[in-house]
Amino acid sequence: MKLCIVGTGYVGLVSGVCFSDLGNDVICVDHDHKKVEDLKNGIIPIYEPGLDELVKKNYKNKRLKFSTNLKNSVSRSDIIFICVGTPTKKNGKGADLSQIYHVAKEIRSSILKFKIIITKSTVSVTTGDEIEKIISQKVSKKLFSVVSNPEFLREGEAIRDFYKPDRIIIGTNNKKSNNLLKNLYSPITSRGAKYINTSRRAAELIKYASNAFLATKITFINELANLCEKIDVNIEDISIGMGLDKRIGGRFLRAGPAYGGSCFPKDTKAVVITADKFKTNLSVIKSVIKSNENRSSLLLKRVSNILKGKIKNKKICFLGVTFKANTDDMRDSSSLSMIPSLVKKGAKVNYFDPTGEKNNFKKIKNLNFSNDINSAIKDSDLIIIHTEWNDFKSINFKKKVKNKKFVIFDMRNIYSSTEMKEQKIKYFSIGC
Ligand SMILES: NC(=O)c1ccc[n+]([C@@H]2O[C@H](COP(=O)([O-])OP(=O)(O)OC[C@H]3O[C@@H](n4cnc5c(N)ncnc54)[C@H](O)[C@@H]3O)[C@@H](O)[C@H]2O)c1
Repeated sequence: MKLCIVGTGYVGLVSGVCFSDLGNDVICVDHDHKKVEDLKNGIIPIYEPGLDELVKKNYKNKRLKFSTNLKNSVSRSDIIFICVGTPTKKNGKGADLSQIYHVAKEIRSSILKFKIIITKSTVSVTTGDEIEKIISQKVSKKLFSVVSNPEFLREGEAIRDFYKPDRIIIGTNNKKSNNLLKNLYSPITSRGAKYINTSRRAAELIKYASNAFLATKITFINELANLCEKIDVNIEDISIGMGLDKRIGGRFLRAGPAYGGSCFPKDTKAVVITADKFKTNLSVIKSVIKSNENRSSLLLKRVSNILKGKIKNKKICFLGVTFKANTDDMRDSSSLSMIPSLVKKGAKVNYFDPTGEKNNFKKIKNLNFSNDINSAIKDSDLIIIHTEWNDFKSINFKKKVKNKKFVIFDMRNIYSSTEMKEQKIKYFSIGC
């Protein structure tokens, strides 16, 4: 099939590349000229395991193209996936859908034969209705159908998630679109993914409800970890004991820093605003947001306690600064608030991240990036394991850290406190 992917970020690039790898003719469009030129030259703008090879392979065999020309790309395609950003509005009041509506207006003049317009971006309930209204101002309703097909991929596992999703949600009442999309996704459903056809509004809400529920699970276990720290109970035992109950499940039930990333913070905020608009109080999600917002300052208090209140001039090393492992994404990572706060209190912070130095931190004084783990930790008073990269899971701290009085604060509980005790390393973790 001839597909056009609008927005070549994490979702658009991964979806475009994977659809082309399944044999479709795909054109990925972005208004960022540099990004498109880089992609044509084999330079991949994001870190995502396996993506590099897949882009190069499909670009070479010409099933995958890159362009900045939205109108031409839409003209030659049957199915248009809108994958642009839907960040939180500057005033904090819900999702900013301006990029979506801008695309809807731009593509109208290119719809001369039947096309399916799909929102893969996460959009508030009724956005599909609005897109339909915008396009139908200039185009007959017979020539297009607006469908919601929310994306559930996880950064770091995006390619696996594309080929083996738990479910594919298609929100449409249009039979023709449903049949075409069933066909498009058949290589994936034939491997076991469930194909669910719902109304468009239901599909839009399923995405928000799923993210809000996962955010709730994380926040739930994080709050229980706070209790565990006071009653000499290990949160890991609680996670395992709860998670083995199939009704609960162990995923997203690991205590750690505040949840971050490009989705959970913005989507939880957006869904409560939508509900407020419809005079419905989503009080559980509201308290999840509040609890998560407090989490970084709670962990900073713990850092201060570990250092006995003496933060000034302390050498603190952060291992990992992205919001989770296997991604270079810094959006809403808890390190963005924790590191500047420690620097402000006089700490000399050093960090290492497997995806390299971060622009977010370049202008901060007393903050240094190290090129490798060994040089990052060697002079530290305190090592904070912030992200659960495999690279950090078997470090011989005793051998590598020069300062013999160093302390570790493992915010991901990747080491065993018993083993650390045996090695006589001062070790703190979450919920223990
Ligand atoms: N990142 C994730 O893990 C993830 C997972 C599921 C769903 N989502 C949702 O998918 C959407 C996209 O997320 P993302 O992380 O890929 O965003 P992103 O910021 O990485 O990418 C968006 C891209 O769209 C481009 N763009 C914006 N307006 C455009 C226009 N008019 N024409 C052409 N290109 C345009 C931008 O230049 C950018 O490259 C969001 O709604 C997000 O909530 C993201």
